[in-house]
Amino acid sequence: MSETGDLTGLRVALASDHAGYPLKESLRESLKPTGCILQDFGTFSREPVDYPDIACRVAEAVASGEYDFGVLVCGTGIGMSIAANKIPGIRAAACSDTYSARMARAHNNANILCLGSRVVGEGLAYDIAMVFLATSFESHSRHEKRVEKIAALERRMRT
Ligand code: RB5
Repeated sequence: MSETGDLTGLRVALASDHAGYPLKESLRESLKPTGCILQDFGTFSREPVDYPDIACRVAEAVASGEYDFGVLVCGTGIGMSIAANKIPGIRAAACSDTYSARMARAHNNANILCLGSRVVGEGLAYDIAMVFLATSFESHSRHEKRVEKIAALERRMRT
């Protein structure tokens, strides 16, 4: 992460289900000063919604290249990650600590971070998101070949 927490120009799609709604709202505000371009894909109230519907919207927006990263919040982060990972090209990681968030980017080239509002508080969620968004993939390393093998698995599933 840059010392200043500068994420200027990074395009980030943010969304939650009803359980994640308060944390999503908090993240939208706390991430604003970083300079990233944040698009809120909902949900916009505590009215129950189904997390696969939300995950799919963000995952498709990231897979299409319209956004650099997605941040999805549900109660645990798990449902969102399972659903988002069904979209080809998506590598979604549910993280509840900064080390996992850093490795999800550096080693796995994850493009969606999933957070659990019933698992992490606002402060930790912000730190996790900052680390995730600011960490680069270690390309031209042994990890590139492994991530390429994930893409190969996706291609195999489609044939
Ligand atoms: C909603 O109650 C909860 O099941 C959902 O937010 C999520 O945690 C699912 O993985």
